[in-house]
Amino acid sequence: LCAAIFVVAYLLGSFPTGYIAVKQLTGIDIREVGSGSTGATNVLRTLGKGPGAFVLGVDCLKGVFAIALVYALFNFAATSNFVPKTVDLQLWQPWMVILAGLAAILGHSKSIFLGFTGGKSVATSLGILLAMSWQVGLATLGVFAVVVAISRIVSLSSISGAIAVSILMLLFHQPLPYILFSILGGFYVIIRHRSNIERLLAGTEPKIGQKVVTEA
Ligand code: G3P
Repeated sequence: LCAAIFVVAYLLGSFPTGYIAVKQLTGIDIREVGSGSTGATNVLRTLGKGPGAFVLGVDCLKGVFAIALVYALFNFAATSNFVPKTVDLQLWQPWMVILAGLAAILGHSKSIFLGFTGGKSVATSLGILLAMSWQVGLATLGVFAVVVAISRIVSLSSISGAIAVSILMLLFHQPLPYILFSILGGFYVIIRHRSNIERLLAGTEPKIGQKVVTEA
């Protein structure tokens, strides 16, 4: 069951929304422009607000679906006779939720459909968080929004959210698996922003609206 959840969530996360949208609209490979990421920020940078918002929405939904799938599976298990009554479903559910979450995050940034390239897993992580705990999801989005309003730099806002999420999990008294997820997921998202961090330190990271080609 663990392997099945992992594979399905990974495949969901792997769906290359940004790549398909930009390819369909312009014929361009999004990985060869801007930051090289297939995420919503690079789509916004390359094609503007509409396509950027679309990719943000779909990538976010990938995360929601990955978690909803586990909830549906456990609901089914609780009401059917397939699972022996000795199995503590309440104990297992949060662990399967984080397995699905981590698999979807991995899929988004290392997509099997794009030769294990992809985005930086921010939008998909937001969807996962909202499905896991909407309070933590909204609070993390709030941190992101405040930093983006002040700095106009998306990567800095994503990194701030990735750091804040573990603290927010603790503040909202979330279960241990979710706290572990926020640490691992947050760390992974920060690692995915290595090149952004280098540019932030060098003062060359583009702000929203700047169409700077920064990496191939
Ligand atoms: O969500 C990704 C964002 O934090 C950075 O994207 O394209 O500027 O590297 P990008």
